[in-house]
Amino acid sequence: MEIKSAEFVISNTNVQKCPSGTLPEYAFIGRSNVGKSSLINMLTGYKGLAMTSATPGKTLLINHFLINKNWYIVDLPGYGYAKRGQRGREQIKQIIESYILHRMQMTCLFVLIDSRLQPQEIDIRFIEWLGENGIPFAIIFTKADKLTSGKLNANITQYLEHLKEQWEELPPHFITSSETRLGRKELLDYIESINDLVNKKTS
Ligand code: GTP
Ligand code: MG
Repeated sequence: MEIKSAEFVISNTNVQKCPSGTLPEYAFIGRSNVGKSSLINMLTGYKGLAMTSATPGKTLLINHFLINKNWYIVDLPGYGYAKRGQRGREQIKQIIESYILHRMQMTCLFVLIDSRLQPQEIDIRFIEWLGENGIPFAIIFTKADKLTSGKLNANITQYLEHLKEQWEELPPHFITSSETRLGRKELLDYIESINDLVNKKTS
């Protein structure tokens, strides 16, 4: 899929105030600093679209970006940022959970995982929670440029093996780098294939 336009629409903390209408949307979630906003900029080709930062906890709101005037990308706050304190973490958790559980337009949730790390309990628990709630999701491994291809493959194999302990069928997964643009075409093609299905259902 070609990206012809990408525009920021609205930021808020309340799922009720997200854009109305029935356009499908794809949300990006994961631990703080995993690379959500960078990936959104890489996918759209608009460098400053989503705000990125070397300091975790940059994205605190639900941010909607309208793509090609017919679907949305949603940048969500990261979970599990320790320095935010218990109360701050609870607030973010509440925003994320109410968006995921109540946003009917959310067609697929992309869960971002840092490809450099061993499976982290916080991500595994989050993925389990998605399963319990029947949320459609796919996994995106980020920052692939930071590893040799041998180490990258080993980490991803290990991650998928870990998931297999809980899941009979593995979710789709993608390997990306916002630096080299690895995985861009695969992700955009995946989104396009789901958009086509959604459009067929509604036409
Ligand atoms: P929060 O909004 O705080 O939850 O973070 P985020 O998940 O949106 O992360 P963000 O995109 O702001 O990136 C965090 C840091 O990782 C920044 O310093 C980015 O430059 C860096 N980064 C993100 N993606 C990549 C990548 O693919 N490769 C490399 N080398 N660095 C990356
Ligand atoms: Mg961010």
